[in-house]
Amino acid sequence: MAGFFFHRAGFARRLLVTMGLAGGLGWTTPAMGTDEAVLKPRVPTDQMEEARGWKNPFEATEDNIDKGKALFQGKAFCVTCHGRDGKGFGDIPGLVGKLPRNFTDKLWQAARTDGELLWILKHGSPGTDMASFIPLVLTEEEAWQVLLYVRSFGR
Ligand code: HEC
Repeated sequence: MAGFFFHRAGFARRLLVTMGLAGGLGWTTPAMGTDEAVLKPRVPTDQMEEARGWKNPFEATEDNIDKGKALFQGKAFCVTCHGRDGKGFGDIPGLVGKLPRNFTDKLWQAARTDGELLWILKHGSPGTDMASFIPLVLTEEEAWQVLLYVRSFGR
């Protein structure tokens, strides 16, 4: 049942991805079933409980979201892969493998806790182009601000 639901919800977007990217840029796009793959947890099971316990110490005020946006588009260069619109189609033609996450996907937003997203910024998503950003590019405080901005795409 759940599979069927995700399938339906993601259909229009996947169609666009397939036509736009596979056609235009020559990326290999997974066929049907992308959403299930996207929703699958990235944090390893044995670290999940700890990661889910991490809470964002910053409130989602306009000021903090703006700070996150400046980092996202500036020194943390998230924008190069995730795009100004957060849809993750980016503009790096050389990118192969998994597509950057579409932050406007409400099912994905709902499937992740803030702590899991911080885990990703600490460790990256192994086997993909999503690298680790803490501590080399971002402090943990800055990462939490960026995540407030990432969350703002889901609203
Ligand atoms: C080089 C391209 C690239 C850059 C730069 C990049 N990302 Fe990603 N990001 C990706 C890809 C590819 C994925 C999908 C990984 C996967 O499917 O597991 C991803 C996934 C994610 C996810 C979702 C992980 C999950 O749990 O589903 C988050 C959150 C994220 N990126 C945040 C960021 C932030 C914040 C920045 C900037 C600090 C950033 N990314 C910079 C390529 C990039």
